[in-house]
Amino acid sequence: MKNEMGTDIQKIGFYFAMEGEGRDFVDRLGLHHVEPFESRFPGKVFRGKPSLNSGQNIEIAVAFGGHDPRQGCDRIGTEAAVLASYVLCSNFKPDLFINAGTCGGFVKRGGSVGDLYIGTKEFLFHGRPIPIPEFTEFGIGRIPALKAPKLQERCELKPGIVSSSNGFTTDEEERAFFIREQVDVKDMEASALARLLNDLDTPFLAIKAVTDLVDAPQAEEEAFVANYRSVCEKLTDKLLFIVNCLNGAGNLG
Ligand code: ADE
Repeated sequence: MKNEMGTDIQKIGFYFAMEGEGRDFVDRLGLHHVEPFESRFPGKVFRGKPSLNSGQNIEIAVAFGGHDPRQGCDRIGTEAAVLASYVLCSNFKPDLFINAGTCGGFVKRGGSVGDLYIGTKEFLFHGRPIPIPEFTEFGIGRIPALKAPKLQERCELKPGIVSSSNGFTTDEEERAFFIREQVDVKDMEASALARLLNDLDTPFLAIKAVTDLVDAPQAEEEAFVANYRSVCEKLTDKLLFIVNCLNGAGNLG
């Protein structure tokens, strides 16, 4: 069965940076914990062939960055994301890879807490200015996003440009970058994974749920903590819907 991305989808890989973002998704699909593909890293992997409403067989593997043994928190950010996702892709060989999680949104771009976005146009990196001409654009990234307008419409996702960096708060230079580049979604993993999956020639989607607003008076971290649980619930519902849409991908293409 071909989908609008022009590939057969029998296996979908997922990456969530935080266990709290993806744990309900794993549980509701009935995926089982498997031995980590690479035991020297703290990343966790869950796998299974859930019975979906659409009735077809799709195998799903979910990777988490895992808990840092030193600091005890989830290993958020680009390094763990690329490492765990590379190991998952090498072993599982998904036909499609989805990075799902929470993000910051922008009031000036029409964003609200609880909005669900799909990354479109291009993936950028903020906070990586490199004023040496041959590296400047590499620093910004501009990794092309997959076009999935039917999925976007059917699953009622907002389209938006995603920008990633390893920091959570935003400085003035980054604010200017967001305005200049018309960024809708600010996260800490997606653009690094877009680059990885581009190298691996595997279709990639970013599905991101807004917990906080970068250009609102409330501090990003304060809104993130307050909205995290309820927004993760919305994300889980949407991802389950998407998995069923992709399962019926013949209808989307
Ligand atoms: N994840 C959730 N909110 C975020 C923000 N404001 N910046 C980066 N990553 C986020």
